[in-house]
Amino acid sequence: MNKIEAYKEEKKGLDVKDDLPRYATEGWETISDGDKERLKWLGVFFRRQTPGHFMMRLRIPNGFSNSAQFRAIAGISSDFGKDFADLTTRQQIQLRWFQIDEVQEIWGRLEAVGLVSLQTGMDNVRGIVGCPVAGLTPNELFDASDVVREYNDIFVGNREFTNLPRKFNVTITGCLDNCTHAVTQDIALTPAVRIISGQEVNGFNVAVGGKQGSGGFRPATDLDVFVLPRDAADLCSEITLLFRDHGPREARNKCRMAFLVDEWGADRFRAELELRLRHPLLTAGSPVGSDTKSDHIGIHHQKESGLNYAGLVVPVGRITAGQMLEVARLADTYGNGEIRLTAEQNLIIPNVPDELLPALELEPLLAEFRPDPSPVMRGLVSCTGIDYCHFALVDTKSLALKTSQHLEKSVDGVLPALSINWSGCPNACGNHTVADIGLLGKKARVDGEVVEAVDIFLGGRVAEAAGVITDGESAVRTLENVPCDELPETLEKVLAALKPAPAALAV
Ligand code: HEM
Ligand code: SF4
Repeated sequence: MNKIEAYKEEKKGLDVKDDLPRYATEGWETISDGDKERLKWLGVFFRRQTPGHFMMRLRIPNGFSNSAQFRAIAGISSDFGKDFADLTTRQQIQLRWFQIDEVQEIWGRLEAVGLVSLQTGMDNVRGIVGCPVAGLTPNELFDASDVVREYNDIFVGNREFTNLPRKFNVTITGCLDNCTHAVTQDIALTPAVRIISGQEVNGFNVAVGGKQGSGGFRPATDLDVFVLPRDAADLCSEITLLFRDHGPREARNKCRMAFLVDEWGADRFRAELELRLRHPLLTAGSPVGSDTKSDHIGIHHQKESGLNYAGLVVPVGRITAGQMLEVARLADTYGNGEIRLTAEQNLIIPNVPDELLPALELEPLLAEFRPDPSPVMRGLVSCTGIDYCHFALVDTKSLALKTSQHLEKSVDGVLPALSINWSGCPNACGNHTVADIGLLGKKARVDGEVVEAVDIFLGGRVAEAAGVITDGESAVRTLENVPCDELPETLEKVLAALKPAPAALAV
């Protein structure tokens, strides 16, 4: 039995809540190794890199947030942190630097604005990713955010779902623009239509067992299942419980649902699911979608005429308390207070009337969080890096920023819209294996000296046709041991090679 399974057997993850008052009084040094892991069930992360200073991950289903939440998070970051928070690629927010005796106060403030940190780490269903402009974009088959909420409400705080063999990633989307990395998820519900009793109906096709990480990228397997929106949350719950009951629990690096799907194959997986549900499943419908991928950055018309959303790039997802307050003000002044988070660590201010757009575009914050960023900043994603993650071999966030800022100045001419993703170690939290340009931090020996370096991966791809989600491609490790000092020049050459002839590819 692996260590984490033993911890779970000894005491359930959520039960560590009872120990919090004691740890608050007696200090973080008294937290046992098992409880350090269990705290992640509550969304509280001991950070080996900053002992005594914790990280909290907030669950933001579908990336739907608002100005009140941003003000609360800004306040918490100022009062207990270092005045910043991180937006993540699962549309969540990570708070940092608070101490264990401050957790109750932070939870109180979060609860007041409808936020929880429950089950955001370890063997739980992680933040459900959905299209950030669900319900707004004209380019969706239907608004799937209700299904996200319904599934979220089933498992959050429900002990039946808190002892999975490993982490569990889900996306549920009706967007036609492939914005949620469907191929990489344990469950992917993507838009599809099907004829039922002579009528065409909207719903989802279902794929399972996608993953990324140190064992490599594995695209989700199509289950040949169509599900109606009203049945979809239940279906996701049953798949989750199927994984709980049958997923492998031996070596931690072989416990993701991908390994169960590989062992069983799609046919058996489907049959076992039908047994659980006690009814036959419909075969897949026709996938619906465009063959491009959108990041929802820029200013776009919504389906309701006269309204727009503004997708703003937050460089490497790091946002200061001051910037959060400013985003909240802009959302209240120009929109209806809603703020949406994207799967590329960026944010969106929706519901801006046509007549307010010119004033919004003149706001100073839009010079920092640009709706019209350069191609090398637009698709930039970075994992946490060395300041806060002990796995990191390089300081990803600052290197990513510095490198892209250099490239912004040095590369001229038309560039394609690029995803440039940085991970500080092979755990691949920065999604480097499915990016146009992926950078993986490492230590390398150059002229007898150990230096910070990267391997450069090229040509990764996440589903470019909605529904046809088995066509993701792993990026190929193309250059190895590039010292970080030489990176700007090396990437200049890579970009020159990628520069497309036709202007049609330009951002
Ligand atoms: C054994 C493998 C892994 C380990 C040990 C690991 C570890 C971590 C750690 C320590 C953090 C938080 C760092 C911080 O900000 O303080 C993190 C965050 C994150 N990781 Fe990983 N990771 C692993 C695999 C992956 C994989 C395969 C993915 C998917 C590509 C992933 C996606 C993420 C994301 C999206 C976050 C940000 C938080 C969120 O929204 O969930 N991780 N990971
Ligand atoms: S990729 Fe590695 S360095 Fe980056 S956050 Fe994940 S575990 Fe930490």
